Amino acid sequence: MFCCSCVVFYCLLVAVVAKIYLKLRIRRNGSYTCLMGKTAIVTGSNTGIGYVTALDFASRGARVILACRNENNAKDAQWRIIKETKNPNVIYKLIDMTSLESVRAFAKDINETEDRIDILVNNAGAGGLGNHNTDDGLQITMQVNHISSFLLTHLLLDKMKKSAPSRIVNVASIAARWSKLDVDKINEFQPVASPAWADTLMYANSKLCSILCTTELAAKLNPAEVTVNALHPGAVHTDIFRRMKGIIKVVAHSIINLYFKTPEEGAQTTIYVATSNDLLGISGKLFDNCRQIELYAVAQNPDLAKKVWAKSAELAKLESSEKIK
Ligand SMILES: *[C@@H]1O[C@H](CO)[C@@H](O)[C@H](O)[C@H]1NC(C)=O
Ligand SMILES: *[C@@H]1O[C@H](CO)[C@@H](O)[C@H](O)[C@H]1NC(C)=O
Repeated sequence: MFCCSCVVFYCLLVAVVAKIYLKLRIRRNGSYTCLMGKTAIVTGSNTGIGYVTALDFASRGARVILACRNENNAKDAQWRIIKETKNPNVIYKLIDMTSLESVRAFAKDINETEDRIDILVNNAGAGGLGNHNTDDGLQITMQVNHISSFLLTHLLLDKMKKSAPSRIVNVASIAARWSKLDVDKINEFQPVASPAWADTLMYANSKLCSILCTTELAAKLNPAEVTVNALHPGAVHTDIFRRMKGIIKVVAHSIINLYFKTPEEGAQTTIYVATSNDLLGISGKLFDNCRQIELYAVAQNPDLAKKVWAKSAELAKLESSEKIK
């Protein structure tokens, strides 16, 4: 017998059980590390996971530099963090991840004005940016999610070595698992029929590049000095979906509202990787839900990592003296 209300009842039951399961599964950062005397930079920190991460660092006593694109939003975030943590040592500096020149200007400013950098969280990222190239001639998603962070990391590395032990944290994504990466075409929009799928692939590819360069950089650094790790924050309800359109937006938003992590939950792994004493000297690894996980199969390829590294250095227009040997 088909019973309509029974079907509805069971669907609701499954939905509620799934929700409870997902909530219970989330692990917390569990770190009590004090960051007094340390300086942390968090890119894209006026909202979402980046904001929560910066807030957490400030509550641990760090000097926190919010690296954001929009001055009003940055100011607002600075004000809210100072108010909530009573730590006045929170500043913002402007950076536009769609411009290599802006990244360079930011790094120069930091290099000249800051004594040390203990933590760099490459958190800024975006999806749904479409088929555009920036003024640097770079595919916008690739530049915002990978090339700009790659450049920033290079430009700040000297200072981070001097502040050893220091940590670089790259916020990547599980989307990397489903990427289709052709090294010679990392700067090209994906030639697939649906623009939304092309965008998703571009996003996935940029995150895979970020993970591959994390492992490659770790191999070049002394982990007693500077560590670099990548993480998947989980499916988080943040502003990265703000550019979606139409029915995809409606459907995505309904699911996101119900089942995705809040920014507080999504920031836990970043905070764990950036601060936990368990991870002293741990480098080149991938984390999810406050645990080290195995590298995604597509990322377990040192040869590909080397090629993506070389290509990224070319796209970031690194001078030979800036390259990491
Ligand atoms: C991180 O963990 C510590 C210790 O459990 C906790 O006090 C802090 O609130 C956590 N941070 C966030 C943003 O949840
Ligand atoms: C940072 O400053 C130091 C000395 O003040 C200088 O030698 C170095 O080249 C600068 N690095 C960058 C990336 O600007």
